Amino acid sequence: MIGTGYVGLVSGVCFADIGNQVVCVDKDKNKIDKLNSGISPIYEPGLDELIKKNFIAKRLSFTTNIDKAISTSDIIFICVGTPTRKGSIKVDLSFVYKCTREILKYSKRKKIIVTKSTVPVGTGDEIEKIVKKKKKLFTVISNPEFLREGEAIRDFRYPDRIVIGSNEKKAFSIMNKLYAPLTNKGSKFFTTSRRGAELIKYASNAFLATKITFINELANLCEKSGVNVEDISLGMGSDNRIGGRFLRAGPAYGGSCFPKDTKGLVSAAEKYKINLSVVKSVIKSNQQRVNLLTKRVHKILGSNLKNKKISFLGVTFKPNTDDMRDSTSLKMIPYLCKKGAKVNYYDPSGEKKEFRKIKNCNYTNNIKSNCIGADLVVLLTEWDEFKSIDFKKIVKNSKFKVYDLRNLYSAEEMKKNKIKYYSVGRPNTN
Ligand SMILES: NC(=O)c1ccc[n+]([C@@H]2O[C@H](COP(=O)([O-])OP(=O)(O)OC[C@H]3O[C@@H](n4cnc5c(N)ncnc54)[C@H](O)[C@@H]3O)[C@@H](O)[C@H]2O)c1
Repeated sequence: MIGTGYVGLVSGVCFADIGNQVVCVDKDKNKIDKLNSGISPIYEPGLDELIKKNFIAKRLSFTTNIDKAISTSDIIFICVGTPTRKGSIKVDLSFVYKCTREILKYSKRKKIIVTKSTVPVGTGDEIEKIVKKKKKLFTVISNPEFLREGEAIRDFRYPDRIVIGSNEKKAFSIMNKLYAPLTNKGSKFFTTSRRGAELIKYASNAFLATKITFINELANLCEKSGVNVEDISLGMGSDNRIGGRFLRAGPAYGGSCFPKDTKGLVSAAEKYKINLSVVKSVIKSNQQRVNLLTKRVHKILGSNLKNKKISFLGVTFKPNTDDMRDSTSLKMIPYLCKKGAKVNYYDPSGEKKEFRKIKNCNYTNNIKSNCIGADLVVLLTEWDEFKSIDFKKIVKNSKFKVYDLRNLYSAEEMKKNKIKYYSVGRPNTN
């Protein structure tokens, strides 16, 4: 596995756990040192135990030595990052191409190169061009990854589908053998062209981002028209053609994938002079949503936020991960602090380096000390421990308010308890 981040580490550990000999490579020495001393560099439920188990069984090793890792492996997975290029919507493929050149340099016998990184349609062709000097040694396959942070191990073991894209038939049987322990348990093994597999990944993420954005916009309408968006989600989602997942209104979508992949898809389409207007609107609407949520804080607390105490519960883009990439909190917290508010935040995955230098922003390590004396408690991430808080008991400020961006609480219950409560896409009950 080249690249030992969320995808490379989880996939590497899980491939080892189903009996393969796996080497995880990363250029980040700190990460590899941590892993070699038994510490996972990421927060992912169940991962620490699996790392230890497979490390002790000598099926799993971690190194910065890419030369040795490549020369001893038959199948090489590219799992490096594919971020958005600065100042553009294009995908930065420099990490992918750099490690392709390294694969070329250190390969002396037949290898299968598999891109697990999310890459625009046609990237496999470019990889093939880079390795054409030793063309006979390589088969280039696309095997996009669909795991979700926070549920990554389960998703690896029981994927809805395994997508393999190749222009050579023999590659399918090799990958089929590798994934047999999963397909034997019922996971679907889907084969297509290499370009097809590359595009399936972007299409899937863009579609999910569209579902979220659609229900978020409807939530705005619900608030104005006195309807509960949860009824809309349920009523729509019960239709098998629609499905209820990813139809819950909340903050803007974030994370390491949807924001960059929606942009990546639009930019890949532009290369072919195709205008993906739906996806473009989704991107715009999602960006506007962050502003809308901040505006709503002003509506709740007034235009002057100076010295207002705001307590954030959760700052990651979703629960059970420590990933902060493109989280709504990265925009909301700096804005509110700039306006003079005093922000406390608590997240079960720990303190975040992103907020360390922000004036008036403090990390606390539990719910109680984070909320005490707050004027406003913002529930941003749906961690389990935020689901049954006795706000009155812990906030101890007679005029505090709660802004629940995940609709974790009942508006009626809050009203009964005389707590000013604001949520998403529900009629105002205050
Ligand atoms: N995170 C997810 O939930 C998820 C899910 C599905 C697909 N993906 C895709 O998988 C890819 C990886 O995502 P991630 O979240 O694991 O990224 P990440 O940033 O967590 O990890 C990438 C790792 O690659 C390493 N790296 C970069 N260049 C290298 C090189 N030349 N040699 C060795 N190591 C190198 C980096 O140091 C880093 O540790 C992306 O394309 C992403 O879109 C991510």
